[in-house]
Amino acid sequence: MKILVTGGTGYIGSHTVVELQQQDYEVIIIDNLSNSRAEIANQIAKITGIKPTLEVFDLTDKQKTKAFFKKHHDLSGVIHFAASKAVGESVEKPLMYYANNLGSLINVLEGMIENDIQNFVFSSSCTVYGQPDVLPVSEEAPIKPAESPYGNTKQIAEEILKDTIKVSNVKAIALRYFNPIGAHESAEIGELPQGVPNNLVPYITQTAKGIRDFLRVWGDDYNTPDGTAVRDYIHVVDLAKAHVVAIRRMLENKMKNDFEVFNLGTGTGYSVLDVIKAFERVTGTKLNYKVMERREGDIEKVWADPTYSNTELGWKAEKGLDVMMDSAWKWELRYRKNLMK
Ligand code: UFG
Repeated sequence: MKILVTGGTGYIGSHTVVELQQQDYEVIIIDNLSNSRAEIANQIAKITGIKPTLEVFDLTDKQKTKAFFKKHHDLSGVIHFAASKAVGESVEKPLMYYANNLGSLINVLEGMIENDIQNFVFSSSCTVYGQPDVLPVSEEAPIKPAESPYGNTKQIAEEILKDTIKVSNVKAIALRYFNPIGAHESAEIGELPQGVPNNLVPYITQTAKGIRDFLRVWGDDYNTPDGTAVRDYIHVVDLAKAHVVAIRRMLENKMKNDFEVFNLGTGTGYSVLDVIKAFERVTGTKLNYKVMERREGDIEKVWADPTYSNTELGWKAEKGLDVMMDSAWKWELRYRKNLMK
């Protein structure tokens, strides 16, 4: 079974390629390397023994995408990660985000339809729920107006999928991620933020390593147990495994509808201070941090109700916060700097 993984050298993509290969799927990656590196294919091979095929081009290039699908019309499925993902940047450059995230999606779907490739797994986000009225948040919760163009591309993409499955043989599963963190236990692959990280855990590991002076904790006056914002952090390997389950569900014709949505979270919310404490405890490293004003656009608290994913997919996140911190730290220490050169 041959699976196309777009954005397969990226953070979640690379972990998913490993899990697919370990379940005997043949993987082809398309990536434009805008936020990743070609060496990741070698890093993947260090874990699995198989170097995935990597085609470097931009999926917004319609002709190249068309030619790729014509050549690979025997694909069993597509897992589509390729997208820009920085919330702040999307506010600055909305058209770039709409053109890139939606243009590539449309080209991929057209390529699939033209070659009768039916199975599509989409990287969605809990950002579609905004600040939910009810916690934990289930798949039934209403979609709230997007807080950023990035978030809007995820909402619009789900709409595009719903409309497309009605008029084609394409079936789609949208996986709504909560906050993926951590790295592969081998420390061969992990998150490679470019420049100053926006996300909490790479900022923590870079601070502990001395690359940043201190972590800024964005706000401690939220309505949460310790005042800092709460998220559902999920180990990236648990998240990656869910993609293999989703693609298998499609290949085995087990879908209940031609468009399905699943939450990928643990069901547990942790505050920023919980994450800092876990990091300090697990690594024995003291972290410099300062409490600042709230960050604009941040929501107060969100965590998943993963019941439907657990029962219907037979998938459950298994790794706890300590394992997430330990793996993120090992990755930071062992490889990140080498790959950043
Ligand atoms: N935080 C800090 N200091 C930092 C970075 C983050 O205190 O330097 C806090 C944030 O305020 C937030 C938590 O840590 O409370 C997590 O922040 P992240 O930036 O790691 O993650 P977000 O929850 O803000 O963003 C994630 C994804 C986005 C997605 C968003 C949807 O990274 O892609 O969830 O809610 F859009």
